[in-house]
Amino acid sequence: MLYFSGKLSISGNKKTQNIMRKKKGIRFQFCFVFLSFVLSAQIQPYDTVFIPQPAVTEKISGVFNLSNSTGWFTGNVLSQGDVDYLRDILNIQFNLNLSQVNTYKPGTIRFSEAADTSMDREAYELNIAPEGIEISARKDGAGFFYGIQSLVQCMAASRNPSGSFALPCMKVKDAPRFKWRGMHLDVCRHFFPLDFIKRYIDLLAMYKLNTFHWHLTDDQGWRIEIKKFPMLTRVGAWRKGSMLGAYADQNFDTLRYGGFYTQDEIREVVNYAAQRHIVVVPEIEMPGHAVAAIAAYPFLSCTGRQIQVEKAWGVFNDVFCTKDSVFDFLEQVLQEVLALFPGEYIHIGGDECPKLNWKECRHCQKRLRDEHLKDEHELQSYFVKRIEKFLNSKGKKMIGWDEILEGGLAPKATVMSWRGTSGGIAAAKLKHQVVMSPGKPCYFDHYQYQPVANEPLAIGGYNPLDSVYAFEPVPKELSVSEQKYILGAQGNVWTEYILNPKHVEYMAVPRMCALSEVLWTMPERKNRSNFLMRLKRRIKMLDLMQVNYSKHFLEQ
Ligand code: ACM
Ligand code: ZN
Repeated sequence: MLYFSGKLSISGNKKTQNIMRKKKGIRFQFCFVFLSFVLSAQIQPYDTVFIPQPAVTEKISGVFNLSNSTGWFTGNVLSQGDVDYLRDILNIQFNLNLSQVNTYKPGTIRFSEAADTSMDREAYELNIAPEGIEISARKDGAGFFYGIQSLVQCMAASRNPSGSFALPCMKVKDAPRFKWRGMHLDVCRHFFPLDFIKRYIDLLAMYKLNTFHWHLTDDQGWRIEIKKFPMLTRVGAWRKGSMLGAYADQNFDTLRYGGFYTQDEIREVVNYAAQRHIVVVPEIEMPGHAVAAIAAYPFLSCTGRQIQVEKAWGVFNDVFCTKDSVFDFLEQVLQEVLALFPGEYIHIGGDECPKLNWKECRHCQKRLRDEHLKDEHELQSYFVKRIEKFLNSKGKKMIGWDEILEGGLAPKATVMSWRGTSGGIAAAKLKHQVVMSPGKPCYFDHYQYQPVANEPLAIGGYNPLDSVYAFEPVPKELSVSEQKYILGAQGNVWTEYILNPKHVEYMAVPRMCALSEVLWTMPERKNRSNFLMRLKRRIKMLDLMQVNYSKHFLEQ
């Protein structure tokens, strides 16, 4: 994408990073070598430059010529973050050093507060006229940022070989369809360096996605520093080998593998994302997928047995016990987590928790009796409800995978529907908020092209680009009043079979682009062949950024 290095040494080119760190304002982690980039000199038709497609575009005759002599006037309505972002993006991406002017005059780029104060927080209007460019939005929202993104998309499509821009005049009136426009990344099965996390966030920002779901703990690695419990990362962040190749082969290496993010690094990511109007939702898995935590602190399980951080992929019987000391531990962990993540949601996992150990554990069986619970499903529900109460008491909302419906949903929980859409439908009927992320088509770790023999090994499944583009997050089964509980949807990138950042990009792009249009654009404005045409046009940018996107759509 636009904001990072042409050299995709994903873990980062140290020298470049050091130079960039010295820059003021937004520090784009990768210095992008854009100076040599020459896009088509032709003016592109006005409605073929955007992904996702805006709500309304209207052609106006004429062209606005943007060059280094164009000024920009913030009108004191842009936040400092947006000001820095715009300055850096013009500079790094387009080699433009436009001067900021203190009064508006014709021929400038101008930002103004929307007259309509009831406007959506993420809405914006972009007017490109022969006499100037105006972006208007609410002062307190993300609208200006999205207006800037759209302007950047127009510029990228309208660059002259001389380095100026002949922008076709148009009016854009735009707002997203959904509030939750998410992408997820599993950093437990394979670990990805901080620089790549930022690059991933940059990709989300480019497509007006606003939620980064960071899967930070699992059986194969605990990836977030918790100061009160240092063994979580000293022990839990490292495994003594990894599964190699297909699951059926049961092959393993013996290499020590792991890594974690310090709290300073987490804050850096959260701030980086916030500057791009992206909220980071951390996932701390419980009560299942807890092997790495238990390897660090064996008292957390029912058996107390010393176990190792998992080398294999799958679902494991060592889960958190339901005794009080485990809740004390988890509350202290969450206390540190919620101090790091200012967003309203904490994801607690809740999926794939075998009940075997609970059935044989005297603490868990006592809990069942004391709380008058019918079975272990209700015990899981007790667990999740207790955690929800804690999070709510700290002003946070809880979200979990759809298993949290089993045994009774916690009173205010938001459900992330992954085993199809039925969990999401059930939750919406119960008047709970829902994020749709059904395996089909939202799991981007699944194959995207057939025959799969020619593709890098994946976990299975088949979610081609077209199926993502055709996805409708609001199920037909919901009444009009129930539909409002669908907050949006999310693409998930689980990394059992995704070993490095380039491979993440291959699986995520362009499916992420298709999802962005599903989430931003009203269905009547979507059009598959038009989307493919825009994607092909915009791919020049991804090439220049050396994004390792999957190229199969070029054959369509
Ligand atoms: C999941 O894929 N286990 C949520
Ligand atoms: Zn137990």
